[in-house]
Amino acid sequence: MAQNIPVYLDESKPIEQRIDDALSRMTLEEKIAVIHAQSKFSSPGVKRLGFPDMWTDDGPHGVRPDVRWDEWEQAGQTNDSCVAFPALTCLAATWNPQMARLYGESLGEEALYRGKAMILGPGVNIYRTPLGGRNFEYMGEDPWLASRMVVPYIQGLQSKGVSACVKHYALNNDEEYRHQVNVVISDRALHEIYLPAFKAAVTEAGTWGIMGAYNLYKNQHNCHNHILLNKILKQDWGYDGVVVSDWGGCHHTEEAITNGLDLEFGSWTDGLTMGATNAYDSYYLALPYKRLIQEGKYSTKELDEKVRRVLRLFYRTTMNRHKPYGFLCSESHYDAALKIAQEGIVLLKNEGNLLPLTSHLSPLKKILVVGENAIKMMTVGGGSSSLKVQKEILPLDGIRDRFKGVEVDFARGYVGDTIQSYNGVTVGRSLYDLRSADELIAEAVEKARQADVVILFGGLNKSNHQDCEGHDRQQYELPYAQDRLIEALVAANKNLVYVNISGNGVAMPWLNKVPAIVQGWFIGSEAGEAIASVLAGDVNPSGKLPFTWYTSLNQCGAHALNAFPGIWREDHQIIDEEYKEGIYVGYRWIDKLNGKSSKPLFAFGHGLSYTTFSLGKLTADKKEMTQDDQITFTLPVTNTGKVAGAETIQLYIHDVKSSVDRPYKELKAFQKVYLQPGETREVSLTIDRRALSFYSEARSEWVAEPGAFEALVGTASDRLPLRLAFTLKN
Ligand code: BGC
Repeated sequence: MAQNIPVYLDESKPIEQRIDDALSRMTLEEKIAVIHAQSKFSSPGVKRLGFPDMWTDDGPHGVRPDVRWDEWEQAGQTNDSCVAFPALTCLAATWNPQMARLYGESLGEEALYRGKAMILGPGVNIYRTPLGGRNFEYMGEDPWLASRMVVPYIQGLQSKGVSACVKHYALNNDEEYRHQVNVVISDRALHEIYLPAFKAAVTEAGTWGIMGAYNLYKNQHNCHNHILLNKILKQDWGYDGVVVSDWGGCHHTEEAITNGLDLEFGSWTDGLTMGATNAYDSYYLALPYKRLIQEGKYSTKELDEKVRRVLRLFYRTTMNRHKPYGFLCSESHYDAALKIAQEGIVLLKNEGNLLPLTSHLSPLKKILVVGENAIKMMTVGGGSSSLKVQKEILPLDGIRDRFKGVEVDFARGYVGDTIQSYNGVTVGRSLYDLRSADELIAEAVEKARQADVVILFGGLNKSNHQDCEGHDRQQYELPYAQDRLIEALVAANKNLVYVNISGNGVAMPWLNKVPAIVQGWFIGSEAGEAIASVLAGDVNPSGKLPFTWYTSLNQCGAHALNAFPGIWREDHQIIDEEYKEGIYVGYRWIDKLNGKSSKPLFAFGHGLSYTTFSLGKLTADKKEMTQDDQITFTLPVTNTGKVAGAETIQLYIHDVKSSVDRPYKELKAFQKVYLQPGETREVSLTIDRRALSFYSEARSEWVAEPGAFEALVGTASDRLPLRLAFTLKN
């Protein structure tokens, strides 16, 4: 029997051999078919040979409900109500790679149940400006943090036999003109800031999929960009997976043939419109490609290379018989969503220890919850990450549930976005309210006077020009007259807790008046429970900001240099966006300002706790290191407070003298440590030459220059009390 199994089906044979065999059996038509979509989210396998269709789906926070074959409306399936995991900004805010692993594994199991071979995520575009509409889907401003968090996410997901599709490669840092933006950037900024997380995804996590971005770089669309795909991704990083176009990101058959695109999805196709149905044969890599081969303009060299990669993906996913079983909405997935949310919530401010509510204000008799975001589902909307959830605990419900026995009243406070549906997924709870801002504020103030504590849930939401795909925010200030509401509330009741729901920083002109501020992100199915547990003190907050929270846009390099959103060319087809701030993104820019109006509202890496920690003496295992060496820094960390908690020790490198301009400091290692009251643990952080390197434009490679360095260690980018000098030898 066994000798009759063809090589391509023989599991005892190496995958590359099986690919060769399958390739040799495929017709030109079959090869062309597997490199482009057949529906909104699937591409065909090779039925004659027994390769099933390949289904992909968004991503990145849960498995998107099925849409119809060729339309964006949801298909109305009864088995696609999923768990929504916290948005990736929240995951990044945990600063805990184990949470990323758990996230990937849990999502992978949901994807398996739904028959998806590939999840369109995670997203690792850098938070360049707080106006970026999709920042909530990404992992913040720092390339090291994003790299450490993306690797375990991918490994967890792929451990289930589900491919990641890391997006959007590359330089898709804003949304408004995402199809027309041509990013102009130095090689240094490209390699030091915008590529590291993608590189880690490829070289460390071994991602099987990567999604090209919509925008252009060096005047070429990134879904068929020679430098990004052929040169950097495939040649330099040795990537062996598939490059998937973003939906509609492919624009040119010949560029797609030669410049590294492997799998085309979502095209509108030449001469057709969005309304054309089942236009898949007209895709750039469909009949137009076949014709060019038949006419002799191309051999099948490039085609075979693409098919090889697609077959490799099949063997890793659809053809892998050893995948575990998937399951949906399991207790373990809800637990994972809850845990990640609880670890990612950031306590930004806690004057007079107003929080946790249970310890300070007892006996608490009356809580007033205010704000639309306390009663609004945040899993529906925002673009392709929109979900159809089995459940989403809203903040008001979470608080009512946690504070049973306490009277919990509610006032709307403001009206923002009342449309609660996306692609046919509707929420079913009306948010219409026709009262004016004055009336809403007056009601909230009146109720606030009667309450022991007021918890306001405000911030942004998932509608256009908020935190939403396809558009950027138009202002840094809070929308919907929330600033007025906050001022009025705190004047009426000084015990105001402001919970900000967003994936971006917002202006807080009232910062000094509001005693307690919590960053609540978009945290998915368990939102209400997670937030209530932190406010109550059942969970001690340990999240740290994955981005700099600016006082105003002027503190952000891209805005200070007027380098956003770019300048339209005369024909209004392309907008050139020059990243003039270069490598000075986030805290790197803040440091460069060097004290000149540079204190942000909250620094990168900031986040408070209900306990206190003390850091002991910082030591290193050596004073000098070589290019092949490592150096380990160690310090004792003690929980000096009364409750258990976690602190994240952060290590930044300062290059004392360099031949090029360098940021004052850069994050190069971190470690989260959990401590019981009174407990001390040693935390060790190890780095090697990569932590000391910059990308040399002259040599087109990473270079660590010998000389003096300093390790700066502490608990936030603006709280680094420990310093240790060391030397890199020749
Ligand atoms: C988004 C991608 C998404 C794709 C499929 C695109 O518009 O940019 O992130 O995966 O649609 O929904």
